[in-house]
Amino acid sequence: MALTAHSTIGDWLNDPTGGPLIRGLFEQTGADPELLTPVLGLPLQQLVAMSQGQLPQSVVDDLVRAANNGEIPEDSDTSTWQETPTAARFAGKTVIVTGAASGIGRATASRIAREGGRVIAADISAEKLDALKAELPDVVTVAGDLIQQDAIDAVIAAAGDTIDGLANVAGINDDFSPAGETTDAVWDRVIAINLTAPFKLMRAVLPIMEKAGRGAIVNVSSEAGLRGNASGNAYTASKHGIIGVTKSAAFMYGPKGIRVNSVAPGGVATGIPMPPNMSEYGSGRLAPFQQAIPTVATAEHLAASITFLLSDDAVNINGAVLASDGGWSVQ
Ligand SMILES: NC(=O)c1ccc[n+]([C@@H]2O[C@H](COP(=O)([O-])OP(=O)(O)OC[C@H]3O[C@@H](n4cnc5c(N)ncnc54)[C@H](O)[C@@H]3O)[C@@H](O)[C@H]2O)c1
Repeated sequence: MALTAHSTIGDWLNDPTGGPLIRGLFEQTGADPELLTPVLGLPLQQLVAMSQGQLPQSVVDDLVRAANNGEIPEDSDTSTWQETPTAARFAGKTVIVTGAASGIGRATASRIAREGGRVIAADISAEKLDALKAELPDVVTVAGDLIQQDAIDAVIAAAGDTIDGLANVAGINDDFSPAGETTDAVWDRVIAINLTAPFKLMRAVLPIMEKAGRGAIVNVSSEAGLRGNASGNAYTASKHGIIGVTKSAAFMYGPKGIRVNSVAPGGVATGIPMPPNMSEYGSGRLAPFQQAIPTVATAEHLAASITFLLSDDAVNINGAVLASDGGWSVQ
């Protein structure tokens, strides 16, 4: 079968033509091909998202051409999962998605827009929001730091009188520090973005949903919301905290027709940045457990879980924490 952008990185590396092409690319950039070990099962296309802008689409297209005598072959590979949008699943619905400029948020915003929803895409990165808008012109973009109340007010104003859904996806990593090492700066910033901002967005949308008697909220947690050995002190606290916020709101607002759920992703190949000055002790403690992650997912895999919980198909689901992690949480 021809190598395409949907062929896995493992298939590329094992191919007598594809292997040298990939290794050559890594040699050119000075990156270690060992970095690919956790993502061998993902499609080559995923390298573009993982590189966070370092690797343009044209490089993947050039690799595919180089492996196929200068042509991009028709993609007939059905062995890897491919997103299958459900037509009009979000027709007539207004859905706010935070973190929509990159990774899981972008994939969620894109899927909702392609399924007929009116998306309010919020993110701190105006530049990356512009790129989303170039691809999906009907998406309403709102650039701002969601730590600031005025950015939250701007998102609500852009949404208008009806808000059917909210996906709180924006988030940042911590420095893997254990409690004894966590600085005020790391703690305050991680809690502000991962926990306080989603709570404030919920506080803003809930009265609007209450008036309508319906609504769906999905808060993105993490494997670190389920266990103590997936990240550092601040991130682990923020992701456990967002599950608490989810359960409380699900209990309080369930009788009012509003569903509030959480998705806990495992490893996702988005290239989410790590801060400088990672804790040496924390990184060392976490390393063996991170090597045991069974699979690394794509942002589209997570968008499938998040949009399911936002959609009416999840009609009977309220207060759930859906581990979308390829089975990591059962280990
Ligand atoms: N990637 C993973 O392996 C993984 C695993 C578990 C959980 N998660 C969670 O999934 C969510 C999305 O992560 P991702 O991997 O897509 O990361 P990402 O870095 O690709 O996307 C996060 C987005 O949030 C935005 N953002 C950050 N701070 C913001 C702020 N103050 N105001 C507005 N926007 C802000 C960023 O600009 C970025 O576009 C996060 O909550 C993350 O904690 C990710």
